[in-house]
Amino acid sequence: MKFSPVLWIYSWIQWALDRLLSPTPPPPNARLSRPRIAVIGAGLTGVAAASHCVGHGFDVTLFEAGDENSIGGIWSRVNNTSGLQIHSIMYRFHPSVHWSKGYPDRQQIVSQITQLWRRYGLQERTKFNTRVTSVTQDGQGRWIINNPSNGRFDGVIPAIGSCGDPKMPHMENQEVFQGEIYHSSRLDGKTAQGKKALIIGGGASAVEALEFVVHTGAAKTSVLARSEKWIIPRNAIIDSLLAFNIFGQETMFSWIPEKLLKIFFYRDLEDLAPQHEGLFTETPMVNSDIFHQIRQHKAEWLRGDIVRFIPNGIIFNHRARGVPKGGPGRQDEVKGDMVIMATGFTRPSLSFLPKECFQSPYEPPNWYLQTFPPEHTSICANNCTRKFPHWHLHAPASRVPSRSSDSAFPVLDEEVDRHDEMDKSKGTNRSVRLFHLL
Ligand SMILES: Cc1cc2nc3c(=O)[nH]c(=O)nc-3n(C[C@H](O)[C@H](O)[C@H](O)COP(=O)(O)OP(=O)(O)OC[C@H]3O[C@@H](n4cnc5c(N)ncnc54)[C@H](O)[C@@H]3O)c2cc1C
Ligand SMILES: NC(=O)c1ccc[n+]([C@@H]2O[C@H](COP(=O)([O-])OP(=O)(O)OC[C@H]3O[C@@H](n4cnc5c(N)ncnc54)[C@H](OP(=O)(O)O)[C@@H]3O)[C@@H](O)[C@H]2O)c1
Repeated sequence: MKFSPVLWIYSWIQWALDRLLSPTPPPPNARLSRPRIAVIGAGLTGVAAASHCVGHGFDVTLFEAGDENSIGGIWSRVNNTSGLQIHSIMYRFHPSVHWSKGYPDRQQIVSQITQLWRRYGLQERTKFNTRVTSVTQDGQGRWIINNPSNGRFDGVIPAIGSCGDPKMPHMENQEVFQGEIYHSSRLDGKTAQGKKALIIGGGASAVEALEFVVHTGAAKTSVLARSEKWIIPRNAIIDSLLAFNIFGQETMFSWIPEKLLKIFFYRDLEDLAPQHEGLFTETPMVNSDIFHQIRQHKAEWLRGDIVRFIPNGIIFNHRARGVPKGGPGRQDEVKGDMVIMATGFTRPSLSFLPKECFQSPYEPPNWYLQTFPPEHTSICANNCTRKFPHWHLHAPASRVPSRSSDSAFPVLDEEVDRHDEMDKSKGTNRSVRLFHLL
C-alpha cells in the first residue's frame, strides 16, 4: 500500500486515543464485582457498551438474537461492497477502534467490532441465538431477561439498532415483472452487466445500489425516489464542518450550508435538493459520485411514485419539486430489466421492555436524554445512529443542565425535574448511579 502521511498521522492519533482512553480489559475468567448488566444486541453499539462496562468492572452478559456470525449486527448482514459513507473519523464507537483507511469497507468494520469483542473477553459473556422477548423485574427490582435461568441484572442496555430484516414492500402488479428483483442488501454475487437497472428508494442504500450497478457495468440506471433527501459531498473536512452543528438539528443558520451546497455541489442539479426539508432534519446521504454519474447520463434520479409494475419496467408518476408524496404528476413507463429494492429495513421492536416504558408522555423518544425511560432509569436504550452525524458535547447524564428545544426529540421539563429529584435522592436508586459511573 502506498505510504500516506495523513493516514500515518491518523494512525498515531488513534494509537494515542487507545492508550489514553480505552479502559483496561479484565484478565480472562476474572470475577467482576460491580453490578450485573445485561446488554441486548451484539452490533457495534452493544459490543461497545459491553466493552466499556466490562472495562469498568461491571459483570456483563451480552444477549444476541443471531448466531456467532452476527457480531457486528447489521454490518454482518449487508453486501461485501457496503462501506462507510461518512469518514471513519466520525465513526468512532470505542477508543480502541483503529481504522486503517478513511472509508473502511464492511469487512474492516466487522473486524474492528469483533476485535473489540475479543479484547474485552466478551466471548465468554455472550449468549448467541437468544432473542430477548421479555425484560421483567423480580421482587427486589432486579431484571430478568426472558427467564431467571439467564440470571438477574441491576441494569439493562438494549442496543438493538434500527435496521432489522430487509423491508420488501409488495408493489402493485409486481408478479408480472420479467426481470429479477433483489433487496439492496442482497447483492453479493449479482451483476447488472449490460442491464437497465431500476432502484426503488431514495436513501443511503439507493446510493450504494447505484454505485454497485454502475461498477458492475449497468447500461443505464434509474433511481425512483418518492421522497427527497440531502446529499452531501464525501469529504472529511466539509462533513466535519457540517457536523460542528453541535445542536444536531435545524437552526436559524442552516440556510447557509444549504445555500453553499446548492451553489458549489448540486450546481446544475439543484432541482434534486429538497425544497422543504432542512439539511439537519434527517440523516443526509454522503456521496460525491452520484452527480457525476447523472451528468455522464449513466444514471437518472427521478422524483415520484410507483404506480404499478409492467413486464418490462414500472409505470411511474413523476412529480415536480415540492409536490408531496402521492401528489399529482405525469405518468410514464420507466423501462428496466432488473429491480433493486432499496426500501430500507424493518425497525426492531423494544416491546420486550416493561409497558411503563411506553406510557405517555414518557414513551420513546421522550425518554430522558432519549435513552433512559424515566420509570426505569436502570434501562439505557442505546443507538449509535443520529439524525445527523454531529460532534457531541458529552456530559454525564446527571449534570446535563439544559432542556432540549428539539421538537422531534423533546426532553420534557417534568422529566428533567424528575431526574433532578432522582439525582438528589442518592441512595434510593443505585441503578441510576450505576449509569452515572459509566
Ligand atoms: C449498508 C449500511 C451502511 C451503513 N452505513 C452507515 C454509515 O456510514 N454511518 C452511520 O452512521 N451509520 C451507517 N449505517 C447505520 C448502522 O445501522 C449503524 O451505523 C450501526 O451499525 C448500528 O449499530 P447497532 O449496534 O446500533 O445496531 P445493529 O448493527 O443493527 O445491531 C443490533 C443487534 O441487535 C440484535 N437484536 C435485535 N433485536 C434483538 C433482540 N430482541 N434480542 C437480542 N438481540 C437482538 C440484532 O440481531 C443485531 O445483531 C449503515 C447501515 C447499513 C445497513
Ligand atoms: N454506507 C452508508 O452510509 C449507508 C448505506 C446504507 C444504509 N445506511 C443507513 O441505513 C439506514 C437505512 O437506510 P436505507 O436507505 O436502507 O433505508 P431508508 O433510509 O429507510 O430509505 C428507504 C427508501 O425507500 C423508500 N421506500 C420505502 N418503501 C417504499 C415503497 N413502498 N415505495 C417506494 N419507496 C419506498 C423510502 O421512501 P420514504 O422516505 O418516503 O419512506 C426511502 O426513500 C439509514 O440509517 C442509513 O443512513 C447507510
